Amino acid sequence: MRLGAAPAWHDIEPIEIASRDEITALQLGRLQATLHHAYANVAAYKAKFDAQGVHPGDCKTLEDLRRFPFTTKADLRDNYPTGMFAVPAERIARIHASSGTTGKATVVGYTRHDLDIWANVVARSIRAAGGRSGDRVHVAYGYGLFTGGLGAHYGAERLGCTVIPVSGGMTERQVQLIQDLKPQIIMVTPSYMLAILDEFVRQGIDPRKSSLRVGIFGAEPWTNAMRAEIEDAFDMHAVDIYGLSEVIGPGVASECVETKDGLHIWEDHFYPEIVDPVTGQVLAAGEAGELVFTSLTKEAMPVIRYRTRDLSRLLPGTARTMRRMAKIAGRSDDMLIVRGVNLFPSQIEELMFAVDALSGHYQIVLTRTGRLDSVEILVEARPGADLDQVRRTASASLAKSIKDRIGLTTTVTVGAPGEIARSEGKARRVVDRRPKD
Ligand code: DLL
Repeated sequence: MRLGAAPAWHDIEPIEIASRDEITALQLGRLQATLHHAYANVAAYKAKFDAQGVHPGDCKTLEDLRRFPFTTKADLRDNYPTGMFAVPAERIARIHASSGTTGKATVVGYTRHDLDIWANVVARSIRAAGGRSGDRVHVAYGYGLFTGGLGAHYGAERLGCTVIPVSGGMTERQVQLIQDLKPQIIMVTPSYMLAILDEFVRQGIDPRKSSLRVGIFGAEPWTNAMRAEIEDAFDMHAVDIYGLSEVIGPGVASECVETKDGLHIWEDHFYPEIVDPVTGQVLAAGEAGELVFTSLTKEAMPVIRYRTRDLSRLLPGTARTMRRMAKIAGRSDDMLIVRGVNLFPSQIEELMFAVDALSGHYQIVLTRTGRLDSVEILVEARPGADLDQVRRTASASLAKSIKDRIGLTTTVTVGAPGEIARSEGKARRVVDRRPKD
């Protein structure tokens, strides 16, 4: 594998490798300022703090944050569109929105200063992934209200890269542009990267000979098995980038190419907690639960203890002194409970990659007959494989490993290459056809 150079120390911002004392001192000052800012300028925060009997002045240590109420997607919806903004309308420099899977979009706003910080954390993320000033970056995250495209774009520019703003879709053209413009870096959802891979193969171009050296993948859960698949297919590094619109967009946390051991949270701007998804109790370091973020520097839309629904664990720093979050296992609202068994799509993904004849595309379809839920796993044979033979062997072997490892009986259906609908952004992994009751 062509190893990207590990970053030279002088490339790293001093705060990324500051002592824990320095980091926590910085966080406390910023947290106190954020709580005051939210309380003074957002009626919804004032009402929630007052109802809980807490005042920003009560926050004397980082642990005191636990006394403050959570913020949820429902708070943002209730204050749609701009009720959570903490600055006058004329100071809002940009608006993005996340469509979400259900209901009304949530709208998020940025001041010029927020956009500046966002570009910095994305630049830091690209550098952590091995990118350098002068590199060419192909951005295939969607441009528009989604934060992926423009977030990646301005971060890459900030680092001094040449940006190729392709956006999602037109897969044939994605390959053409990679071939012609020879980017070293691609930023795209991992599922769409697989569609780009298929297109390389379809055109008879060896993806291992492409110019791509690093892929920075996020916006949806993906497993280490998927990482291995992409790294091997393209002879490139695949690193994880995480973020969400409500907190800022991509660049809340990112993996370092030299360790690929989880995502360093850019803790000078985002304060993480892990809580029990049911009780809301703060959990100890290393325990698995729901990620909660408090912004430390945002002006336009500060978020206090925002419940992400993403499941992870907090781990100590390695390549940086900033703490890491484990690769996201899934979202608490993506967890399927089928006949009493808890199931995350990522578990299926991992087992599927262990079966050689199957490509990385999959979908989980839930149906109900009478009172009984059934699970069908749709997978695809790799291009060029003998479909009948894959059907005979792979479906039984995947169904068996799902039964053995997860304890669930499923039907595995192997389709021909291209049969499962492709997404140009976030993949739709679960199709729930069960009647809503
Ligand atoms: O997806 C921001 C983003 C764009 C992140 C590009 C990375 C790259 P939203 O559309 O608001 O924002 O969706 C946020 O996507 O709560 C997670 O459930 C999921 N997600 C984002 N990054 C990852 C990741 C963008 N690396 C929601 N791994 C989050 C797993 C991720 N899930």
